[in-house]
Amino acid sequence: MVSPTADMTPLHPDRNLALELVRATEAAAIRAVPFVGRGDKLAADGAAVDAMRAFFSTVDFDGTIVIGEGEKDEAPMLYNGEKVGSGRGPQCDVAVDPIDGTTLTAAGRQNALSVIAVSDAGTMLDASTVFYMDKLVTGPAGVGVVDIRLPIGENIRLLAEALGKPVEEIVVSVLNRPRHESLIEEIRAAGAGTRLMSDGDVAGGINAARHNARTDMCVGVGGSPEGIVTACAIKALGGHIQGRLRPGSDDERQKGIDAGLRFDDFVYEADDLVKGKNTIFVATGVTDGQLVGGVRREGGLLYTESVVIRGASGTLRWISSEHLTSKWL
Ligand code: FBP
Repeated sequence: MVSPTADMTPLHPDRNLALELVRATEAAAIRAVPFVGRGDKLAADGAAVDAMRAFFSTVDFDGTIVIGEGEKDEAPMLYNGEKVGSGRGPQCDVAVDPIDGTTLTAAGRQNALSVIAVSDAGTMLDASTVFYMDKLVTGPAGVGVVDIRLPIGENIRLLAEALGKPVEEIVVSVLNRPRHESLIEEIRAAGAGTRLMSDGDVAGGINAARHNARTDMCVGVGGSPEGIVTACAIKALGGHIQGRLRPGSDDERQKGIDAGLRFDDFVYEADDLVKGKNTIFVATGVTDGQLVGGVRREGGLLYTESVVIRGASGTLRWISSEHLTSKWL
């Protein structure tokens, strides 16, 4: 139970903060709408970043962005170290991804999300100097069973056993990238199916960890910010997440070492990615996806769908909102 201070200021990110933050992801998703399918991912990201930043300032918390998104593509950013929130209320670490799936958004494809993750101050791994992370995510059945150090075929066999189903029924999602060619071959050779994602491994990870999920595991190298964000949700879902940092150059590796990060076979466990259970994950769909629907525009209204996941309670809550288009676009 989270206790407030004498003046009733919560010490930790609480349930009200979780609901307040939805307004920021809703705003980012809505502002990205004019750019859906218009081929300009930077413009979409810029609109989402501006909207998210503006809404942050109306929320009572004292947040510091530990992990932002953007340097990889030189995109507009909510930068690392930026203070967000009104400055009143709980001190928090914040990870943002105003659009996870800027390319999906620009192409008008499915699965783009606007995301914020929050945890107690000082609990998120600052992996911002290294852009890529190798990840392994499953639902609760994989906890204490799978391990990123094992060959993928072995992990598939172990997870199938834990889930009590044949290997042929296991579905593994993985980003469709040339770097994953042999990983994809190994998954299929083990007898499992693949769900190839063109982008968006935050949704991919969460979908794999959910109860009654259509995928069982999400693997491969994606963004490290996305890894931290995903970890905040996986904690609440009771799932498994591990990550290994994958620097793209010697320079990046050195910057990582200087920042105290560890490489090669070092495995970041869930608690290394974000400590404790007091996490909040909120996401609003930009375009339609399995986790949440995208923004819909109809008859003067904008409809948004969001999910709020709280580590402290383990609750997933879906929020559908209607907004007057005239107030927004
Ligand atoms: P952006 O929204 O920044 O384009 O990220 C989309 C994404 O697919 C992430 O979900 C994923 O972690 C990362 O890019 C993978 O990076 P890359 O596209 O360079 O393989």
